[in-house]
Amino acid sequence: MTVRVRKAIFPVGGLGTRFLPATKSMPKEMLSVVDKPLIQYAVEEARAAGIEQFIFVTGRGKAAIEDHFDYSFELEHTLASRGRKEALASVREWVPEPGQMAYLRQQEPLGLGHAVWCARNYAGGEPVAVLLADDLILSRKPCLAQMIDAHARIGGNIVATMEVPHAHTSRYGVIATDHKGPVNEGDVVPVLGLVEKPSPDKAPSNLAVIGRYILVPEIFDELERKERGADGEIQLTDAMARLIGHHPFHALRFEGRRFDCGDKLGFLEANLAFALARDDLAAAWREVLRGYTA
Ligand code: UTP
Repeated sequence: MTVRVRKAIFPVGGLGTRFLPATKSMPKEMLSVVDKPLIQYAVEEARAAGIEQFIFVTGRGKAAIEDHFDYSFELEHTLASRGRKEALASVREWVPEPGQMAYLRQQEPLGLGHAVWCARNYAGGEPVAVLLADDLILSRKPCLAQMIDAHARIGGNIVATMEVPHAHTSRYGVIATDHKGPVNEGDVVPVLGLVEKPSPDKAPSNLAVIGRYILVPEIFDELERKERGADGEIQLTDAMARLIGHHPFHALRFEGRRFDCGDKLGFLEANLAFALARDDLAAAWREVLRGYTA
């Protein structure tokens, strides 16, 4: 029987340099798509997948994230006294319970692998989910819930994957697999190797790993080596690669569409798509767009 995934790590310690000046004094993860910060989408996705403990790996200048998941007494009191029930629900309903969240500091942004390693003492020997808030996914069923269903069936490590243009492999961790033919939504493929940011001529496939992972607790032993990889950073991909052959490792082609909100164009497209997916905005938003495409 597989152990249920109860804990999720949210690495939010990065500098977000691709989004300057917006991220000079505001965390990238607090950028809003339509009317909700990226980190709230990620936490809601994790909650919907049954996660009970939310571990944020933060850095300097990230206090706004903690405030966002706190109660806001003044605001809530004002909204309540004015009878603004909907607005009140919009600031309170999704906040996890006291004691479900933990915040710890990654003192230096040494890479995603290092950020995950910082949470080692909170994992308690259990499998963990890792969610990168800047990968935002629009899907019928939350992406992490799809992965947790797969984990309940096959256990081990599971990463989310999607096909990307060959020319773009150097932006991602890329999978080597013996799966033949196209990979369709819902497919689970064996992972035989992982390479961080390979150039197109060195990429073992065009299957990219995106920012959703379920990892066995042994990942922390691999991260402990603190080896530097691509871009001189401690890479999660390299530590995951060392688990292959020792622990089951699969990639799920999730159902849904992923937007890279750490990148300006991806972020703009996410706003467009998420507004179109909203019942309260779709019609008016289409009208606005028509004005630009005419
Ligand atoms: P990115 O690769 O997007 O890096 O990190 P970044 O530093 O945030 O952004 P750019 O490239 O400078 O614009 C992916 C995720 O990993 C976290 C980031 O906060 C983001 O959620 N991260 C990255 C850390 O928590 N610590 C790190 O040292 C690096």
